[in-house]
Order: sequence, then C-alpha cells, then structure tokens
Amino acid sequence: MQIITTKQELARQVEACKRQHKSIGLVPTMGALHEGHASLVRRSVSENDVCFVSVFVNPTQFNNKEDLAKYPRNLERDAALLSSIGVHFVFAPTPEEMYTAEEMNTCFTFDFGGLDQVMEGKMRPGHFNGMVQVVSRLFHLVQPDRAYFGEKDFQQLAIIRFMVERSELKDSFGSLQIVGCPIVREESGLAMSSRNERLSAEEKRTAVEISRTLFKSLEWAKEQSVEEVRKRVVDAVNAVDGLEVEYYEIVDKTTLQPTDNWHNAIGCITVYCGPVRLIDNIQYPAL
Ligand code: PAF
Repeated sequence: MQIITTKQELARQVEACKRQHKSIGLVPTMGALHEGHASLVRRSVSENDVCFVSVFVNPTQFNNKEDLAKYPRNLERDAALLSSIGVHFVFAPTPEEMYTAEEMNTCFTFDFGGLDQVMEGKMRPGHFNGMVQVVSRLFHLVQPDRAYFGEKDFQQLAIIRFMVERSELKDSFGSLQIVGCPIVREESGLAMSSRNERLSAEEKRTAVEISRTLFKSLEWAKEQSVEEVRKRVVDAVNAVDGLEVEYYEIVDKTTLQPTDNWHNAIGCITVYCGPVRLIDNIQYPAL
C-alpha cells in the first residue's frame, strides 16, 4: 500500500491504472476509521481492481472551529487498518495541497435541488457546500468507477447521488456509480462513528438509547401516525439524562421533505450526548 500526499503523484497513479484498464474504487473518509469505514473499504476492494481511500479532514465542511480542532486524527492507525484490508493507495493530502487560499475561504456554491434545505443543511449552514467541494474534487482527481458512502450520513449520500446523477456537474463524472452501504452498529446498537471516540464510557452507555428508541419506533409506527411517532421519539430521547435532541425528522427517502405517511419513509435524528453531536437514522417499512 502506498500513501500519497500530493495531487501530482495521485494523478500519476490514476493514469497508470487507466492505462491498464483497471477499475477504480474510491472510499472518501476523514480518517479515525472504524468498522463502518472498514465495511465500505472491504466492498470497494472486492468490487474493483484497485482501491483508493482518501483520508482528509476537510476544513471547508466544518462550520464549527472547535469541532474541526477536536476531530480525531490518527493516520498511522488508519493506514495499518487499510493495509490489512488490501487497499492499494491512501491519499492523505494537507489542506494546502487540496485548496488554494481563495478556495479555502470562499463558499463553494452548488445547486442541491432543495436537498440541503432540511435537517443537517438547516443546522450546519455551509456544511454541504464544503462536503460537495471536496467530494467533487476527489472524484475528478481519482476518476473512480465506483465510490462508496455509508447510509449513516443519509442526507450526504442523497446529495452526492444528486450531484452525480442529476446536477449540472453530472457529465464531469463519467459513468461513476455511487454505492450506498448499510449502517454498521456496535453490539449495543450504537451507530459507529468517528465521533464515538470522544464519548466517555458513561456517555457511550447513554448514547445507546438513541438507536434503542429508533428501533422501538418501528413498532410504534405500526399503530401510530408519522407525527405521533416523531414526537414520541423526541420525547423518549430527551427523557434520557445526558441526551438532547437537535432534530428528529421523518422524511421521504428520495426528496428528504417531511412526509405524513410511511411510504418510503426514513427517520433522521441528531442528538447531543454531552458535547458530542451524534447522528443516526432508521428506515421504516411501508405499512
Ligand atoms: O462522510 C465523511 O466522512 C465526509 O463528509 C466525506 C464524505 C469524507 C467528505 O469529507
């Protein structure tokens, strides 16, 4: 496995793969890798001739300086995990290698087809602009055949699909296929996240109540309306000492707009566990 830190070396390796007609899989990450990332990487390794993983804590998608500063970083540990899975190339650039000073300080504008008006887009202004800025750049640099993203960040995945399949940029990505992969959970049910590293043992036990409540809501949905279940989830999570719901929205999986029926519905939650912001979601079967 080779660790690449410059765009120039990356371009050289990508060109060599293209010359040999090798299919390329890309897993974009911000590092602090866990079993959730590992599941994406394993899939990419098994479905492509060559697998690239990017490890880059993208400053332009953080609207909170403290969150950026505290984001866990450990390239050595990440590289050991990626090498053990059979990754060929890790791209780990500095922010200065990725962006000019102007790009770093100017909001990247993009038509999100309205997908950014709700949930994370509302709570974290500019987050998706920065996310799309880095993901589109990675796609242009690596020119993958397939790119892999977790369903935990469901809204992110919807926006990336929109960008590749329906936006004005779509032709620049060739025949790139976006592959969404299921949430990986700890045995307790807690959705795996790099941010879990910032939870104390006590907070981790408390955080389990988030997924426990979401799973219970599958039962509630059999008898109650969308609004009743939405409110019941918020009340149940807020009743747990140490948890505070930022939002729980039950939306249509395709449009991400709030829905009043169970067809194609997904519930997306963001909860503060102490100072740590956690997200999770649950897909409701049609009832
Ligand atoms: O999901 C993430 O870790 C990031 O948003 C991504 C897709 C790697 C872009 O920085």
